[in-house]
Amino acid sequence: MYLISRIRIVLNRFVLKNLNLPKPFCLIGVGAAANLCSHLAATGVQRVMVVSDKGILQTGLLEPLIAILTAHQIKVSLFSDVFPDPDHLLVSEGARQLQVSQADAVLAIGGGSVIDCAKAIIHTCTNQQDPRKLAGLWLYAWPRKRGVPLFAIPTTAGTGSEVTIAAVVSDKVAQTKMPMIDPKLTPKMVALDASLTLGIPAALTAHTGMDALTHAVEAFISEMAFVETDELARAASRLILQNLPLAVADGQNLSARQNMLYASCLAGMAFTRAGVGYVHAFAHQLGALYQIPHGLANAMLLVPVLELMQPACNSKLAILAYDVGLITSNDNTDSRAQKFIDHIKALCRQLAIPQRIESLREEDINTIISRAFAEAHGTYGVPQYLTRIEASLLLRRLMP
Ligand SMILES: [Fe+2]
Repeated sequence: MYLISRIRIVLNRFVLKNLNLPKPFCLIGVGAAANLCSHLAATGVQRVMVVSDKGILQTGLLEPLIAILTAHQIKVSLFSDVFPDPDHLLVSEGARQLQVSQADAVLAIGGGSVIDCAKAIIHTCTNQQDPRKLAGLWLYAWPRKRGVPLFAIPTTAGTGSEVTIAAVVSDKVAQTKMPMIDPKLTPKMVALDASLTLGIPAALTAHTGMDALTHAVEAFISEMAFVETDELARAASRLILQNLPLAVADGQNLSARQNMLYASCLAGMAFTRAGVGYVHAFAHQLGALYQIPHGLANAMLLVPVLELMQPACNSKLAILAYDVGLITSNDNTDSRAQKFIDHIKALCRQLAIPQRIESLREEDINTIISRAFAEAHGTYGVPQYLTRIEASLLLRRLMP
């Protein structure tokens, strides 16, 4: 079974390295969100469906952006029902509303759940399928149609969804989460505007930032990585480790928040080709079963997974330690790698990331492992395969 998974990873790497994946045009800096809205009119868009959530709606963030759209004679319909970890029912409802609105573009304004939901809505509406049938890697599926263009304005720095080919959709009844992975999901244009992220609560900043760090680290140690993704992942890791503590300590630190948005985008570009790994595979299951926020689940799993993967990716972790200035001339590869893991451990303590999952139950462990392995093996370039015993010990470390 592992041989088949490895063959698929070699194939995935070849395709993802050589295929000309779409890259969104990025507007960066304060004012970028307003510029993107003005630019929408210039692209010939006449009707747009804005996808967002109630929280963003209540902050008043949408009003000035929608005002710019209407000032350019663009008809706006609003779908602001997105909730964290959107499920297939919500996506289907959004797809129905997109069809009714006859919008020729979608504008997602929000965090990763909003952008993922917008991607899935377009894909579902265009392909007239149950969203659950659109999950998985596009390489192994029947070709799908491209929908209307997606424009994205992220309001959190973490998921990198604004530049990736993936969208995660939950099934609340089956208690699962599966990613749709298809280049056709990639947004056309994005605005990285830190002024929209000012004042986000410290815990949310910490969790989303740890999600971005996990993308960078898992992409860097992936068997599917190559020179371009390595450079993106290293730059992201360095920026996140320098700026995340500053952004969490002071919600108004504009430069730290702009750097985090940029780093999250770089990490997104890295993992859209190199993939993620076991941290995400397990985090998706914990999120689906116990509603643990995605970034928090990643933050709790990152150190335990890296400790298990360390023998297979020591030299790569040593490079990340070098990038952050953690090493001395006396360190060998092992101690450099250990210093990087210790640095993340200290960061988790500083960000008050809990070490235990109160809701994690012994009787769920087998299901979590089976589902995480089904997600990871053959899709993610994990540096080393875990046995079920190792995975079970990993999860038991998180039990209350
Ligand atoms: Fe993630």
